[in-house]
Amino acid sequence: MTVTDTEVLGGAAAAALRTIDANLAAFGDHYPDDTTVHGRYRPREGGNVGWTTSFWPGMLWLAHDLTGSDVYRRAAEAHVASFADRVRNRVDLDTHDLGFLYTLSCVVPWQRSGLAEAREAALAAADHLLSRVLEPAGIIQAWGALSDPRQRGRTIIDSLMNTPLLFWASRTSGDPRYADTARRHTAQLRDHILRPDGTTFHTFYWDPSTGEPLRGETEQGSADDSCWARGQAWGIYGFALNHRWTGDESLLTAARRCAAYFLDRLPSDRVPYWDLEFGDGSGEERDSSAAAIAVCGLLELASQSGDPAYRTAAGSILASLIAGYAAESGSLLRHGVYDKPKGVGVDEGNLWGDYFYLEALTRVAVPSWTAPWFSR
Ligand code: GLY
Repeated sequence: MTVTDTEVLGGAAAAALRTIDANLAAFGDHYPDDTTVHGRYRPREGGNVGWTTSFWPGMLWLAHDLTGSDVYRRAAEAHVASFADRVRNRVDLDTHDLGFLYTLSCVVPWQRSGLAEAREAALAAADHLLSRVLEPAGIIQAWGALSDPRQRGRTIIDSLMNTPLLFWASRTSGDPRYADTARRHTAQLRDHILRPDGTTFHTFYWDPSTGEPLRGETEQGSADDSCWARGQAWGIYGFALNHRWTGDESLLTAARRCAAYFLDRLPSDRVPYWDLEFGDGSGEERDSSAAAIAVCGLLELASQSGDPAYRTAAGSILASLIAGYAAESGSLLRHGVYDKPKGVGVDEGNLWGDYFYLEALTRVAVPSWTAPWFSR
């Protein structure tokens, strides 16, 4: 099976939409939790908190783009008020994940529906990201308060997916500071979080006072010197998107290097184990979300590099997700891993896996579709 098989693709999209319809009836303008428990999402406690809430309206926008139905558009737009409120009242903002949060929840409704409140909230989120820059390294601190000694000076590979909000903010406002920050941060990750052998550290520390690069560490991977599968997938997609915004060829090369290692470490069914140090026979769990993110990144790489091999690789991974990992109900995908070392969301569905799986299906089904991570 390949993803050019329209019947397979149509069946997968139809199944995903059935689950979204059921979850829309269950959650409406509230938020499912980060991951499923025994295959079902529970309501999130505390309202719009954490880094994953925007994947829910993000999926509703994808459902709209696949079907043209205004039901999904209205449901997605209904989330803008909550995100505007979150940034206005500074609820759970000590994170670099504002790019994930505000691109899907607010940049998209500004672009699609011209909602001024959404643009304002997304720009406020970009301003907050600027407040997390540590000089002289010029990096955006990933987690926690800037005064937290454990987190101070720490970046993580996922941040490459947050810089698109900054590029968008410069484009929409005409203020170059956002894009300049994104460029500096991304260059630091290219030079330090990406290792010489094409693998990535999950997290990397800089000395906050001298700006000196210090050391890599893992949080969700198997070991400091292993290669966390989802981090490598964020690297593929994130470096590719940053290349698209900047035209900096070194970022395309970085994305290619991440992709080469990721593809080389895939097991027989093309869906990685949660850390790339594991292979078939290890007894470890797969992370289907890493596969879904990688499919989107590989499709992005194919379009930027003109190399059709990336599209072929993406197709084989997506075909395997459809055949062996798509759920009938609850989540869109089964068999993801959030954080194995802490035992959180292991062998469950999760919101980001569902979002990127549906983004992958949309990218293939609607070739003219424009990803929210790169848009005007
Ligand atoms: N961005 C957090 C994660 O991938 O788990």
